[in-house]
Amino acid sequence: MAKSTVLVPCLLLLLAIASFAAADNGDGSADSVQIRLNCGASATDTATDSDGRAWDGDAVSKFAPPLGASVAAGASYQDPSLPSPIPYMTARVFDSTHTYSFLLTPGRVFLRLYFYPSDYGNRSAPDALFGVTAGGVTLLRDFNASQTALALNVAYLVREFSVNVSSPTGILNVTFAPASAAHYAFVNGIEIVPTTSDMFAKPGPTFANGGRPDPMPVRADTAFQTMHRLNVGGEAVSPADDSGPFFRAWDSDSPYIFGAATGVNYGKDGNVTIRYPPSVPPHVAPEGVYATARSMGPTPEINMNYNLTWILPVDAGFYYLLRFHFCEIQYPITKVNQRSFDIYINNRTAQVQMDVIAWSGGIGVPVYKDYLVVTTGSGQTDLWVALHPDLSSRPEYYDAILNGLEVFKLQTYGGNSLAGDNPKIPERQVGDGSRRVSGKKSAAVSAAVGGAAAGGLLAVLIGCLCACAVCRRGNKAASVVACEPEAVLEEPAHGLLSGPTKSSAFFKSDQK
Ligand SMILES: *[C@@H]1O[C@H](CO)[C@@H](O)[C@H](O)[C@H]1NC(C)=O
Ligand SMILES: *[C@@H]1O[C@H](CO)[C@@H](O)[C@H](O)[C@H]1NC(C)=O
Ligand SMILES: *[C@@H]1O[C@H](CO)[C@@H](O)[C@H](O)[C@H]1NC(C)=O
Ligand SMILES: *[C@@H]1O[C@H](CO)[C@@H](O)[C@H](O)[C@H]1NC(C)=O
Ligand SMILES: *[C@@H]1O[C@H](CO)[C@@H](O)[C@H](O)[C@H]1NC(C)=O
Ligand SMILES: *[C@@H]1O[C@H](CO)[C@@H](O)[C@H](O)[C@H]1NC(C)=O
Ligand SMILES: *[C@@H]1O[C@H](CO)[C@@H](O)[C@H](O)[C@H]1NC(C)=O
Repeated sequence: MAKSTVLVPCLLLLLAIASFAAADNGDGSADSVQIRLNCGASATDTATDSDGRAWDGDAVSKFAPPLGASVAAGASYQDPSLPSPIPYMTARVFDSTHTYSFLLTPGRVFLRLYFYPSDYGNRSAPDALFGVTAGGVTLLRDFNASQTALALNVAYLVREFSVNVSSPTGILNVTFAPASAAHYAFVNGIEIVPTTSDMFAKPGPTFANGGRPDPMPVRADTAFQTMHRLNVGGEAVSPADDSGPFFRAWDSDSPYIFGAATGVNYGKDGNVTIRYPPSVPPHVAPEGVYATARSMGPTPEINMNYNLTWILPVDAGFYYLLRFHFCEIQYPITKVNQRSFDIYINNRTAQVQMDVIAWSGGIGVPVYKDYLVVTTGSGQTDLWVALHPDLSSRPEYYDAILNGLEVFKLQTYGGNSLAGDNPKIPERQVGDGSRRVSGKKSAAVSAAVGGAAAGGLLAVLIGCLCACAVCRRGNKAASVVACEPEAVLEEPAHGLLSGPTKSSAFFKSDQK
């Protein structure tokens, strides 16, 4: 005890000095200190993973009180699908509540937790059951890593959260707590990557409420969890190949395409260069995401008769922010009204007359757009995202395009939670002792909940959306509060709600 009271202030001082070196560059980029703890490894070990990231052991952690109540343990078996032994093959195991305290530059950070369910010492994998909180937000509750990995058919799990570390303290406490005395908690790796704070910049996402351009500001300190981050029409982009210093993983979208109508995927023409405009700094998404796309196909009659659809499993009972990344990358599409399409989210129109060239300004220029949806109920549900040609402006081609898609789960307020239920193990797998199929990295990294097999369980209350839309007209300030789940949104700023967004105003003046 006495030891730690001396130790902690000293370390905080050291860290404070370290964090002076780190500052927001003002241009939206952040180059603050990144922290990677290879939990359970000896403190003197610095090891590098397959993405070139250096990890430090946490045995004598600068970030935690003496690790007395915890045990360092090695995994009993190395699954061949692990991308590298670091940080998975060692774990920190907790029999009681344990807090890591990180002193950071205030602002938004990615907090990534790495879990490899395995027997650790005399503790067997199925006995792990625990919660994790960070910065006052519950990230995981009664988390059963074994069950989650089995349900997703993967060997390991990476959970990516984004939290706002508040000033002036800059302390981020990450606490692991076993669910009961009979259970234990564990973690293999903790990664903290400072990011930009512009995620929820005004005017904020558009509510997917039937295509009316209604910005819905989100509180700037809202914590979120990355549920899906897809390079649509392309290969997975590894953390090492991400743009900016963020080490995000981008997965292939093919496992999420609904049905046999997968459209066509393609890369950019050789003479097209991706040119990031000031409104889309390169750290938004790497070139590898914008340089590949999926479209519906060359045959207008076929395109008119189907929706290009993705089904994305998520936890019910939360708001979701969906970020669509677009970029026209092939000739001859260079002009406005060559390709125009509608975007549906959960069978509701989120966007009419999406014209990438009109929004981006030209071929090779990226643009992104955020939409907000609400899901109700509990357990797992699916988000449906669909594209369909829009003929109202008589475009030259009957087609649609998408380059990237991110799905973020927003914390609830009141409950201050991001925790969903453990996904159910699909029937066919119960009692099947066989090992997981080659644990595709992509599947583990961002898919947070159940397989697409859970497709039937839909708990989205469209009625709630309608109710919101109705009450929004009558009483704007009260609109969000009337919605389940609890409001995550700011009270809309006056004047923001009814006016068209900048981009839609631009759009209208360009279209008849
Ligand atoms: C594991 O072994 C340690 C000592 O080696 C003991 O204190 C602990 O109670 C054991 N845990 C279980 C779950 O058996
Ligand atoms: C975790 O899930 C597995 C698989 O469903 C189950 O066998 C085990 O009992 C669960 N563990 C706890 C502590 O609930
Ligand atoms: C997020 O953190 C930054 C840095 O401490 C702070 O300036 C900002 O006020 C925080 N946002 C909110 C809404 O608390
Ligand atoms: C973080 O945890 C430490 C030790 O458990 C505690 O003293 C401190 O008040 C906590 N700080 C915050 C900001 O939660
Ligand atoms: C770029 O290449 C495509 C075909 O590969 C061609 O149709 C187009 O005219 C070229 N554009 C320019 C500006 O060179
Ligand atoms: C969307 O419509 C399809 C087909 O009618 C239906 O199967 C699906 O459940 C709907 N999805 C949602 C989220 O309502
Ligand atoms: C596409 O999805 C929308 C929204 O769910 C639906 O109204 C429409 O009928 C679908 N179109 C086709 C061709 O399936």
